[in-house]
Amino acid sequence: MKKIQWKGGALLAPVPPAMVTCGSMEQPNVLTIAWTGIINTIPPKTYISVRPSRFSYPMIKESGEFVINLTTASMIRAADFCGVRSGRELDKFEACGLEIEEGFTVSAPVLSQSPVSLECRVTEIIPLGSHDMFLADITAVDVDPQYLDEQGKLCLSRSHLAAFAHGEYFELGKKIGSFGFSVRKKRKKHPGGKKRK
Ligand SMILES: Cc1cc2nc3c(=O)[nH]c(=O)nc-3n(C[C@H](O)[C@H](O)[C@H](O)COP(=O)(O)O)c2cc1C
Repeated sequence: MKKIQWKGGALLAPVPPAMVTCGSMEQPNVLTIAWTGIINTIPPKTYISVRPSRFSYPMIKESGEFVINLTTASMIRAADFCGVRSGRELDKFEACGLEIEEGFTVSAPVLSQSPVSLECRVTEIIPLGSHDMFLADITAVDVDPQYLDEQGKLCLSRSHLAAFAHGEYFELGKKIGSFGFSVRKKRKKHPGGKKRK
């Protein structure tokens, strides 16, 4: 069946319901950001698009720092709350039982509950319309060691990451492939049944 046309809109899905921390250890704030992504590998660069009306906006603009904390299924109630309530009205960390720790390269706080946190330093602010885009260098990636296997490989499947799609939250489920698997040659088995090294 032929698709029907809707007017242009922000319907990219899934996107991460990231919990972005900003401010300082003494005066922290956290807001939920779905308009984020990676825009360069070397050097590693990201962006967040933030409405200037957000309480967090001047905190990020003035400090030039923020932290993108990946959100898991167990954090999703807090992520939603931090996306509908403002730090102007209440302490969202206290309200949601969120803990923070110091970053390695920025003074913005890092969310302890998050399996992976990206410490970011702003390089450019681009006004786009409803949102301003903060372009940033990723200056450190903080990883919770409980998600590392014996070889030091990050096993994000253990962390039950959350996704946001068209207004709804989902928990990432079954693994259905890995990078390049579609062209990877299968290893042949020896007659004895053992894999060749
Ligand atoms: C799932 C979700 C995604 C959101 N994504 C964004 C976003 O990308 N940019 C933005 O400015 N606000 C976004 N918001 C709204 C802010 O998180 C919300 O206005 C928040 O209360 C701002 O907090 P603050 O006033 O303490 O800074 C999102 C909210 C939710 C629930």
